[in-house]
Amino acid sequence: MRVHRVVCPGSFDPVTNGHLDIIRRAARLHDEVVVVVGANRAKHGMFTVDERVAMLEEVTSDLPNVSVGTFRGLLVEYCRAHGVSAIVKGLRAVSDFEYEMEMAQMNYRLAEIETLFMTANPLYSFLRSSRVREIATYGGNVSSLVPAPVEAKLRARLAAPGPG
Ligand code: PNS
Repeated sequence: MRVHRVVCPGSFDPVTNGHLDIIRRAARLHDEVVVVVGANRAKHGMFTVDERVAMLEEVTSDLPNVSVGTFRGLLVEYCRAHGVSAIVKGLRAVSDFEYEMEMAQMNYRLAEIETLFMTANPLYSFLRSSRVREIATYGGNVSSLVPAPVEAKLRARLAAPGPG
């Protein structure tokens, strides 16, 4: 039988509870979910690609059909090379829609890869990684916004800034 494999792509700098909610829900619907960290522009982030992957692996370790990978270049090329049938994205608000629709339509045009949208849990509709980084940088509490291991990594990074 053909395995139905989907990707959850993103920058994940760092993974938030909103991402994790989408990943968990996707894992209930599909045979295999590969969370893929885009490495094209990762040099300018807070965490290196390897650090993002390690955090994702830790927080998804209880999900047997979820794995973590990276990609460079076009996402559709990764999908073609890895037998991925669809891209799964979360939509937080109407403001996400225009950007995501354009990307979905272009990815379909490029390689006939489908994009499946899941509406974000309203608990997390305001949540994005850049906001988490900002709040943590200025000493705010992010414990309800990211998984505990990610909060610990943020604290450590801000106490001793690294190369990422
Ligand atoms: O978490 P983000 O920053 O919204 O993730 C965006 C990402 C990495 C999924 C997106 O920028 C992407 O797919 N980049 C790969 C380059 C690509 O395929 N571009 C064409 C899209 S139509």
